[in-house]
Amino acid sequence: MSAEQPKQPRPTNYWEYIRVDDLLSLQGGVDRDEAQVKNDEVLFIVVHQVYELWFKLVLRELRQARALFRQPRVAEQELSGAVRSLKRATTVLRASLPHWEVMETLTTRDFLAFRDKLFPASGFQSAQLRQIEIVLGLEESERIGLGASGEQGYLAALRAHDGAESTALRAVQKELEGGLSLKHAIDEWLHRTPIDGVDDKHPESARELDAFLAKFLEAHAAEGRRTCELACAAAYTEEERQALRGRYAREHESVRAFFQPSEAEGGTRRRRIRAAILLIESYRELPLLSWPREVIDALVEFEQLFVIFRQRHARMVERMIGRRTGTGGSAGVDYLDHTALKYRVFRDLWAVRSLQVRKDGLPALTQPDFYEFRNG
Ligand code: HEM
Repeated sequence: MSAEQPKQPRPTNYWEYIRVDDLLSLQGGVDRDEAQVKNDEVLFIVVHQVYELWFKLVLRELRQARALFRQPRVAEQELSGAVRSLKRATTVLRASLPHWEVMETLTTRDFLAFRDKLFPASGFQSAQLRQIEIVLGLEESERIGLGASGEQGYLAALRAHDGAESTALRAVQKELEGGLSLKHAIDEWLHRTPIDGVDDKHPESARELDAFLAKFLEAHAAEGRRTCELACAAAYTEEERQALRGRYAREHESVRAFFQPSEAEGGTRRRRIRAAILLIESYRELPLLSWPREVIDALVEFEQLFVIFRQRHARMVERMIGRRTGTGGSAGVDYLDHTALKYRVFRDLWAVRSLQVRKDGLPALTQPDFYEFRNG
């Protein structure tokens, strides 16, 4: 039997492979006729299309990272792949930021010249942006609606004019049915992380977790006292010192509360997840924590860029149309600023930044050797 020959690739050329003709035939606007469309409008369409292409790449990379963390066990050596995906998605978002400047070559009046054609179309109907939010794990309860009184949700906005299902709506619905988000998959992974060498299956895991957190809270209180004294020494009046002491005391209380999440926040499960983030961030030099630390850094960096992307879009919009109502019917810039400020996914990863202490103020781990590289 002859060995199967590898399939010869079909010969191609640049325009067939890149589909240049297809790509260049997509800027005809509402009437699908480029001859009827002025340069300003072609620019408007192209910038949107470029962003949709970048969204496509971001979405693929986020799905890949999510698939990895959905596994019941994530091997250490696989984490670098997830970091690569997240970093690529971040690079795409970062590289896309100057594209808003291309949009800003339009003046307000240039835009108003063709804006009437757009109603009620809006970037609010970008299925891929919604898919990115869903893959990441944005809570549905955190979303705000679009309508004049905020009631129209993003799913309703994806219906066709006659109320029928659109392909955009189907894509988003499919994403919603797609199972565990990246955030939830990361939470599962963090929950399994051994805290001071003891994993969640160990009979003593709860006691060990309490001991780890108690030692940390003590270190945090000591750090707070030290910083508070420094701040008080630099204050001018006794009144200021009182205010500072109150502030530092409240800060420590909020750290205690962070590690006592309510049932609504996820109770003991959330407590363990938060402790795992603290462990990885605080003892990041230990060899077995080096890739987990890279994962956390990459997630925070991605979310930071996503927030900056939203803020940058909002500033471009403010410059272009001021504070008028959006074509989609939202409060325009106010709506966009709300999403930039409030739409956060990896809240605990951010929160742990407020409570970390200096390296030499950290308590020693009971089992630091657990996080050394092992043979076999
Ligand atoms: C002249 C240029 C633009 C203006 C004036 C503008 C304005 C707006 C406004 C006012 C909204 C809020 C929803 C509404 O009421 O319509 C919005 C949402 C949005 N726009 Fe733009 N936009 C512009 C360009 C772009 C471009 C180039 C993109 C790239 C994809 C984009 C993507 C989005 C997205 C994804 C949303 C939804 C944001 C969210 O719900 O969090 N926009 N835009």
